[in-house]
Amino acid sequence: MVEESAVRGVTLVTGGNSGIGYECVRALAMDGARILVASRDREASEEAADRISEESGCEPIEALALDLGSLASVRQFAKEIEARDLPIQTLICNAGLQMNGLRMTPDGFETTFAVNHLGHFLLVNLLMRRLIANAPSRVVVVASGVHDPELFTGMPKPDVKSVEALAATGGSGPEKFNGRVAYVNSKLCNVWFTYELIRRLRAHGLGQAPQAPLSVNAFEPGLVPGSGLARDYPPVARWIWDRLGPPIGRIASRLVAGINTAQHSGAALARVARDPALENTSGKYFPSHTKFREGRSSKLSYDEARAAELWDESVRLTELTADESPLIHPVR
Ligand SMILES: NC(=O)c1ccc[n+]([C@@H]2O[C@H](COP(=O)([O-])OP(=O)(O)OC[C@H]3O[C@@H](n4cnc5c(N)ncnc54)[C@H](OP(=O)(O)O)[C@@H]3O)[C@@H](O)[C@H]2O)c1
Repeated sequence: MVEESAVRGVTLVTGGNSGIGYECVRALAMDGARILVASRDREASEEAADRISEESGCEPIEALALDLGSLASVRQFAKEIEARDLPIQTLICNAGLQMNGLRMTPDGFETTFAVNHLGHFLLVNLLMRRLIANAPSRVVVVASGVHDPELFTGMPKPDVKSVEALAATGGSGPEKFNGRVAYVNSKLCNVWFTYELIRRLRAHGLGQAPQAPLSVNAFEPGLVPGSGLARDYPPVARWIWDRLGPPIGRIASRLVAGINTAQHSGAALARVARDPALENTSGKYFPSHTKFREGRSSKLSYDEARAAELWDESVRLTELTADESPLIHPVR
């Protein structure tokens, strides 16, 4: 268990029990970081944490339950962090899923949008005062190249008509749910959120000089075959992804910059979260196809009006208050 009083600088990784998040935790642990893994399946997270602690001989890694698809669970999780006064210094928003059918969360939102965007939006805001208090600190949001229609990814183009439509159907047509469209849209939201978060911090004079910096960046892991992302796919597609994905990934990753093993992408994610050279780098995008150096995200992702609309609507949908986040007060 993470010792409340002695600990400085806890790194919180959402979805750290599987795939890219698991490998990121491994890389961070080898580096001596103090880590908290949060996902729905606490038992799976505890097993992952124990395995990595044993392997790395590092500080014990703690696991806590967090369901990003439930606003109540996110608020409960933040309360637990508060109650234990855990000094969260790095927050890696990695958890994500892709759905095969339209499923609504207990709050009445489409699940892909709710987990991949809205839950993380709320979590970051609830932990913002803590991140600022522990600065220099960082937020890294795991997006995906599929948000960019100019890249060949085999996925549909994002199609965000309104935030209301995202909340209701993930942005796919109301008559027939399309999980791939909902996923791509949610990943565009990740990039809009990253850029808008840094604009809001600047507007409020937070997380920048003369204070210690709070840096916020987006990360794009490339295609990582064999991760748990296909768990809701139809059986045949899932079998191909699970069984053939890892060997194909190992070979293709040597030839194509946009295809990686989970180990490679996880280590790159850990670097973006920890590299001292990036302490003052903010509002940037680190994609696989540039070998995880700063790169450009899609044209639409730089649309400030759309990003601001997503922010304002996310405040409304989560019922976020000024008591909960320092970014809700009107800018003077
Ligand atoms: N694999 C790829 O090709 C690829 C490409 C681009 C981007 N990405 C992005 O990379 C990130 C990691 O994906 P991955 O491929 O490593 O998939 P993964 O192996 O399925 O990992 C996803 C993680 O998210 C957690 N999670 C899912 N729903 C959750 C919820 N409601 N609340 C809290 N945690 C939840 C899962 O744990 P529990 O089940 O215990 O909750 C799991 O630890 C995602 O954001 C994904 O969009 C992946």
